[in-house]
Amino acid sequence: MAEFNRNLTDEIRERLSVVDVVGRTVPLTKKGENYWGCCPFHNEKTPSFSVNENKGFYHCFGCGKHGDIFSFVMETQHMNFMQAMEDLAKMAGVKIPERNPRPADVVNREKSYFQICEMAANAYHEKLFTDDGAQALEYVRRRGFSDDMIKKYRIGYAPKKNFIANKFVNEKQENLIATGLCRRGDYGLYDFFRDKLMFPIFNPRGQIVAFSGRSLDGSEPKYINTSDTEIFHKRKTVFGLNFARDAIYRNNRSIIVEGQIDAIKMQENGFPETVAPLGTALTEDHIAILCKSNRNITFCFDGDGAGKKAAERACGIIMPFLRDNSDVKFAFVSGGKDPDEILKTGGVDAMKKIIDDAVPLVDFLWNMANVNFVVSTPGGRVQAEKFLKAELDKITDNDLKNEINKEYEKRKFENWRKWRRDKNDIKIKLPDIDNITKSTLVYIVNKYPETVERYGQFLATLNIDFDGNAADLDLDLKDAEKYIVSLKLQRYMDRLNIQKKELTAKLLSGDDSVREEIQKNDSEIMRTQEKLEQLISL
Ligand code: UTP
Ligand code: MN
Repeated sequence: MAEFNRNLTDEIRERLSVVDVVGRTVPLTKKGENYWGCCPFHNEKTPSFSVNENKGFYHCFGCGKHGDIFSFVMETQHMNFMQAMEDLAKMAGVKIPERNPRPADVVNREKSYFQICEMAANAYHEKLFTDDGAQALEYVRRRGFSDDMIKKYRIGYAPKKNFIANKFVNEKQENLIATGLCRRGDYGLYDFFRDKLMFPIFNPRGQIVAFSGRSLDGSEPKYINTSDTEIFHKRKTVFGLNFARDAIYRNNRSIIVEGQIDAIKMQENGFPETVAPLGTALTEDHIAILCKSNRNITFCFDGDGAGKKAAERACGIIMPFLRDNSDVKFAFVSGGKDPDEILKTGGVDAMKKIIDDAVPLVDFLWNMANVNFVVSTPGGRVQAEKFLKAELDKITDNDLKNEINKEYEKRKFENWRKWRRDKNDIKIKLPDIDNITKSTLVYIVNKYPETVERYGQFLATLNIDFDGNAADLDLDLKDAEKYIVSLKLQRYMDRLNIQKKELTAKLLSGDDSVREEIQKNDSEIMRTQEKLEQLISL
């Protein structure tokens, strides 16, 4: 029991940051080495409760409370140890195995899975250099793999016919099935990987736990991966991490690319800190695993629509992991290429430029808000603001959140309010909208966002805070539109009348040249009046 608990608590401790755990309930601010907040164990107004991320402990200088993530959850949530462990395991994405110690036979079974994977990798690798593997070998060399790389990444070839099923006859069939290498069919075992270029998948300790096979004849799907097994969990596996780990520490950052060949090519061409997710979109687990080394991540996505979408997803996932010293960036590879192709055609320099040009997260998020919402309309701006706020609310580090928020406030003022100044510059100054009209419009815009799409330009000229209080009305969409259109006509009419006054004043002071304009103005007033009457009678 003790043995089992120690393994599991270690794994949870390894995955979770004490700042994240405490930050779920206590707002924290970084000062110097530590994070500070108001102690949840005694009443205080000035923070004397400190959290040390590296040591994994909290300590209150006021009341002396001290502990780690487990004691924190036990005391603040009033849980016993087992409940706290379940809660934290969930947060860490760690599955709690049976409550009793892992029986020796389970341990042994896993050992044999590792052995089978290891033997299979060797067998595939040997096969690559035989006649059967000649085409695969030619293919992988053509893709720019040197013999050293083929050896290092232990690339191999799975032949067309059942290979593992026939070769590993001394292994228990259920073990071959449990590793995902073989499946049971009507005529006995058959191989899952057939006629594939084989990439072993390593766990962080460097043990082979699964394989990814690339099709060689253009057939779909292009890649197949071992399904999840007892020793392989796709969502929690970061491809290339075993090779990249040292470099991620040394270079103090990781680069995440989309494909596994991209990761290998990057690692071999000046970016040894590169990894990739595996056959799935990026998950929180991937980020949590990388963040244990440091929180500096450069994402490198395709410049196409799908790549942008993936980047936006990644952005949302990484928000809770941000610290004030995190450096998270987004690089985009344009021209429908991936890092492998960039390295091939433009070399390391071209790739370096792309990585150096990466957009910092704060800018990326800002751009996202501006591109995904029509910020030239009040409704669009409200949506964009809500989006930014929701993203920032995911940040645990309060200080950082406030700082980014300040930056955004500045940008909103400079970029979004500018139209107000422009509009106010128009010569004819119209009276402000009265409060009843205002609250009616707020009601309409919030109830029928489609009106913003249509009348955004006009609504923007009214200088209204659309986050303000709304009237409680009962207007259907048709009436709401009618309301806006008649308001628009009325405003237009107001302007024509002011214009008329100005022109008449000029005429009275002897300026005859305005006669024609006055006539035009008059007929426009009549036209508008008619329109208004029509609208109201509808
Ligand atoms: P891509 O389609 O971008 O392929 O998929 P790629 O990495 O450039 O592959 P090459 O260069 O043509 O060999 C990106 C990643 O998505 C997963 C793989 O992990 C791949 O590396 N994928 C893709 C699959 O799991 N299955 C597929 O059928 C396709
Ligand atoms: Mn590719």
